[in-house]
Amino acid sequence: MKKIQISPSILSADFSRLGNEIKRLEEGRADMIHVDVMDGHFVPNLTIGPTVIKALRNYTKLPFDVHLMISSVHKYIKDYAEAGADIITVHPEATEDLSESINLIRKLNKKVGVSLNPNTNISILDGYLPNIDLILIMSVYPGFGGQKFIPDVIEKIKSLKDIKEKNKYCFDIEVDGGINFSNSKEVINAGANILVSGTTIFKENNGDIKKNIETLRSQ
Ligand code: DX5
Ligand code: ZN
Repeated sequence: MKKIQISPSILSADFSRLGNEIKRLEEGRADMIHVDVMDGHFVPNLTIGPTVIKALRNYTKLPFDVHLMISSVHKYIKDYAEAGADIITVHPEATEDLSESINLIRKLNKKVGVSLNPNTNISILDGYLPNIDLILIMSVYPGFGGQKFIPDVIEKIKSLKDIKEKNKYCFDIEVDGGINFSNSKEVINAGANILVSGTTIFKENNGDIKKNIETLRSQ
């Protein structure tokens, strides 16, 4: 059983002090930093791009788990690799050719992530699974932090775990959106080994990041 990892989303951080917020996450024993990149087209919100990621790179040695919620994502992948991303996660709906995007991320020596929206079927990944390092299951419709967890995704996580075990694939299963202290155990038991959380980590227990990360991890 893989160790449960926590990837706090900086979407819920204080954007006026992102560097310090990343240091706080590292001190709070985060395993990686989830960076939500949004372009206002693929999702109805706009956040940060490669310039900001480059500026944040030297604040931590932790891996940058970069979630690209941007249209025509293929042509921007290299920029995020050069900015310091360690995991580059794309949405199949946002690239003209998923194979090409996966091969490009691989060629840039980054970990390959593919994200599925709540209404996207796992079957869209048929044939790609052996070449993917991480599958990001969205448990909210992407665009904003603080949304309510969609319980239907539990079955999707279980199905993905079955496929992974039957075929001895080694991809991580990461779940993202509305993760909190009351659903994290169920998400882990369904098969997730990486949890993304923004609101719970930054807001619960008066913003005690270390306590919130530990509580999520130890469910
Ligand atoms: C939503 C983002 C998520 C979100 C998670 O589009 O992809 O990473 O920030 O935030 P919470 O934990 O607040 O739902
Ligand atoms: Zn995300």
